[in-house]
Amino acid sequence: MRSDSPIGIFDSGIGGLTIANAISHLMPQESLIYYGDTAHLPYGDKSPDAIRYYTLVISKFLRDQGCKAVVIACNSASAVAYDVLSEFFSDDMIIINAVDPLVSEIIDTASKHVGIIGTRATIDSGTYQHKLSKRSSDLKVSALATPLLAPMIEDHFHKRKVSSQIIASYLNELPLDELDALALACTHYPLIEEQIADILQGRAIRTIDSATPAAEHLHLELEYQGLLASSDTPQSQFFLSDTTRGFQQSAEMFFGKSIEIEHMDLWTSRAK
Ligand code: DGL
Repeated sequence: MRSDSPIGIFDSGIGGLTIANAISHLMPQESLIYYGDTAHLPYGDKSPDAIRYYTLVISKFLRDQGCKAVVIACNSASAVAYDVLSEFFSDDMIIINAVDPLVSEIIDTASKHVGIIGTRATIDSGTYQHKLSKRSSDLKVSALATPLLAPMIEDHFHKRKVSSQIIASYLNELPLDELDALALACTHYPLIEEQIADILQGRAIRTIDSATPAAEHLHLELEYQGLLASSDTPQSQFFLSDTTRGFQQSAEMFFGKSIEIEHMDLWTSRAK
């Protein structure tokens, strides 16, 4: 592993850009390779085995690109595939997941009762519930699958007024009067953080997400291993398994510059 090697980041679509953005703010000298598996989106409705298969193929691609670290910028994949990806790739690169940094943030933020929203894959895996109960036996956890949200955000539908009703309808299923924190356990959800804040207005509930905690966790690991880059000219590359309308627009909004996207279907081994 070399300090001037790139950092690989992947998600099913635009959600991982929230973590990529936090990384490029915290470590502007790092080169990034982003892979969006838009052909298989949403991950949240796939079986754990399917998610493990997709993410093994993507991690192999990122390893072959010479990445020094890979960030699983997707809670669904982090929840069901982190162990297998670590087993296969941790000798070659640092593997960071989105769940553990958010679990630590929840422990630091929530005092009595935390609500967790995420995809079906994340919530049904019980990963958050299990990791939190191991860290704090006193903390009450209310977890809720909110499967419509990631596809809605991916399609930029969250900018329409009706989306607030969908979000509110989900949030009202949580015991809002009892919560002191709400964890956004899907990397797509920071994009609707303002709407969530509007719905929770007047309640003392702090919303927390995995973007900054994951970037900080990566920074610590790179620093510890002496692998922080010092380049003045970092390069970023973006690959998608299928072209989608919204991705380019979102990536350009996050990075504030025009972005070139390469179509890279790793499953048919055809680069177009
Ligand atoms: N952004 C991803 C997550 O954090 C996945 C969304 C999806 O593809 O369902 O879970």
